This record gives sequence, structure tokens and C-alpha cells, in this order.
Amino acid sequence: MIEKHEKAGEILKQIREEVVKLVKPETKMLEVAEFVEGKIAELGAQPAFPCNISLNEDAAHCTPSKNDQRAFKDGDLVKIDMGAHVDGYIADTAITIDLGEHGELVECAEVALKKAIEIIEPGITTSEIGEEIESVAKEFGFKPVYNLTGHGFMPYIAHAPPTIYNYRVEKGIKIEEGMIFAIEPFMTSGAGRVSERSETEIYSVVSSKPVRMRMAREILAEVEKHKTLPFAKRWLSNPREIIISKLVRDGILRAYPVLTEVTREPVSQAEHTVIVEENGARIIT
Ligand code: CO
Repeated sequence: MIEKHEKAGEILKQIREEVVKLVKPETKMLEVAEFVEGKIAELGAQPAFPCNISLNEDAAHCTPSKNDQRAFKDGDLVKIDMGAHVDGYIADTAITIDLGEHGELVECAEVALKKAIEIIEPGITTSEIGEEIESVAKEFGFKPVYNLTGHGFMPYIAHAPPTIYNYRVEKGIKIEEGMIFAIEPFMTSGAGRVSERSETEIYSVVSSKPVRMRMAREILAEVEKHKTLPFAKRWLSNPREIIISKLVRDGILRAYPVLTEVTREPVSQAEHTVIVEENGARIIT
């Protein structure tokens, strides 16, 4: 099990380095998403969720649509969040690439992640991890995004306990040896909260209720291989909006709308997956 998480992590580690060179003004976002997802498969894993490419005040859940023509622009703050799995065992990592003047915001998320990882050892609580992240935000004069969190994993489930908050919580969970989870501080010059926009490109199957409509059955057959993991609308051969909306209304699909900072201020992100060992946390991504 651990070896499978590690293999997924090893693959992402390599792609992280390559993707940094790809993200520059004029490069198409779709090209980067397809590069990441293609490379994950080429190296022997599968995407655990669509490659998220979120710009500026958008914090998460953005991924290009089919035939997306958008390109990165000078000034963009680009967050790339990627996940890979081997037989359902997931690794998850994210980087922020600054094409403008957000150096401090990017550094703040990176320092918070580094310091949070440094204090981890068996016996510490998620409250202390959150406190560390929040205190780095304060030092830089920014805020963490309070309603986005790191998370554990279960087979084919990308967000499972323990929840790793980006601030001090009253009752934390005790970290134990052998736990595997992702820590992902998001930092912002804004209010520190995200809310949902209407655009949605990412979905997952949440119920196996039978459906009658032929086109709905075709979509469900196509995404069956992702099990409970999120998939992109652009991965479907025929992404019919009206059918997808009905599947969401019927409680068969869950939608992941784009999450945007409420004051429309830029957001940075840094993320690694770690394994807790006797003497501390080991980064696997
Ligand atoms: Co994550």
C-alpha cells in the first residue's frame, strides 16, 4: 500500500519539475493539463483527479474545458494541483508559478508548507500544524484560506480524514506513525475565504442508482473506471451539459464548482503528500 502511494508520489515529483518550465505566457492551459495527465499515465499511474490549473483569485477546482483556447498571460499567478494514483493509492501535490509580481505570496505558502512539515512527528496534533501555517501567514502579512484544507486518503478517495486545517483549531486530531496525508496551505492578500462560482468542469460519481436515459448511461459507463475519483468534463467524448446537470440534480454526480477568493484577491498554494515516520514526516512528492 505504502509502495503504491510512493510510486504515485515519485511520478508527481518528476512532473512537478517539468511543468514549471512549461508554464509561461502564451502557453495554452489545456496543453499543460494534458501534459500532466498524459505524463502520469505514461509513467505508470493514473490521474487521481483532473489537473487543476487555477489562476489568480481562483483557488481550486479549475481545469480547462474541451477545446479550451485560453493561454497564460503576463502577470498571472498560476496554481497547478496534480494527483496520481496506483490502484487507488493516491499522492497529491501542488505548486504556484508566478508570472507577475506575487513573489511574496508564493514564498509565504512555500515557507508555511516547509515549516508545517518540519514540526510533524507522531503525537503532534492537526491543531499545531494549523497554528504553524497560520503563524507564517501572519509573519508575511497574509491570511491562510480558512475554508480549504489538507487531507488524508482512502483507496479511490482523494479527500479523507485527517483534515489538515490551515489555522489553529480547537480540537485537533493526533498524528500517528504511518499516517499519509497532504498538507496544502493556501495564502491570500484577501479575506481568507473562498466561495463557489457557477462554472464547473470537475465531477465525481457519488451514487450507483440506475438511470434510464440512454445518454446518461453512456456518460456513466465512460467514467466508471474512475470509480469515486473526480473526472473532468473534457474527458467525456460527448460532454452534454443538460445530461450532466440532470445527473447532478438526481444525486448521481457531485459537482466541484470553481472556488474563488471572496474578495477577488490573489491566492497562492503549496502542497506535498507526506508519510509520518518515527522521527518525522517524509515527503513523497
Ligand atoms: Co490536495
